Amino acid sequence: METVRFTIDKKTIEVEKGTTILNAAKKAGIDIPSLCYFSLDGMKIENKPGGCRVCVVEVEGRRNLAPACATEVTDGMVVRTNSMRVLNARRTVLELILSDHPFDCLVCAKSGNCELQSLAHRMGVREIPYQGAQSTYRKDTSPSIIRDIDKCIMCRRCEMMCNDVQTVGALSAINRGFMAVVAPAFEMNLEKSPCTYCGQCVAVCP
Ligand code: SF4
Ligand code: SF4
Ligand code: FES
Repeated sequence: METVRFTIDKKTIEVEKGTTILNAAKKAGIDIPSLCYFSLDGMKIENKPGGCRVCVVEVEGRRNLAPACATEVTDGMVVRTNSMRVLNARRTVLELILSDHPFDCLVCAKSGNCELQSLAHRMGVREIPYQGAQSTYRKDTSPSIIRDIDKCIMCRRCEMMCNDVQTVGALSAINRGFMAVVAPAFEMNLEKSPCTYCGQCVAVCP
């Protein structure tokens, strides 16, 4: 096994070549927050679109912060996971995600079991300083699943689950920018898609 040595928060450790900063940090007992990242370890399947940027870290010699879930460790790399720059960036990222999220935690079925809510608590985000357009996508109601896309953070875990694990292929990312959604082809309702209502997409939705 080829390995690389790197330093993270002043700890020097050795990991298998190809390991991401996020997974290497876990090995070192360092907790980096994540949101879009998801792994099914037993099946060696990972969802790492690198889209949410909640996991950013500082890598010495790089101008921009790097997403820990999508950046592989290299020999001699020096990483900082808890500098003021990193903590401020993560907080801003979370505030921006929440700025386009319905403020209805009090009546939301996921409240208390919501990774976004937990992250907001963990980072001490209580108010959103940004105001902008809010998504107003139609709700898609099928016999057993309601897709309320206004709450979607585009982590794409559901897409990975439906395509790579269940191999049904009912979901994919469509549209761009603010209009981007994960939906059945041609934005048809789930009821008209090949969906089998296995519920696995719901189980991994943060
Ligand atoms: S419930 Fe439907 S859309 Fe969701 S993973 Fe199963 S088959 Fe795919
Ligand atoms: S609906 Fe899919 S893409 Fe949106 S938050 Fe849930 S798992 Fe992520
Ligand atoms: S968890 Fe790394 S970019 Fe989302």
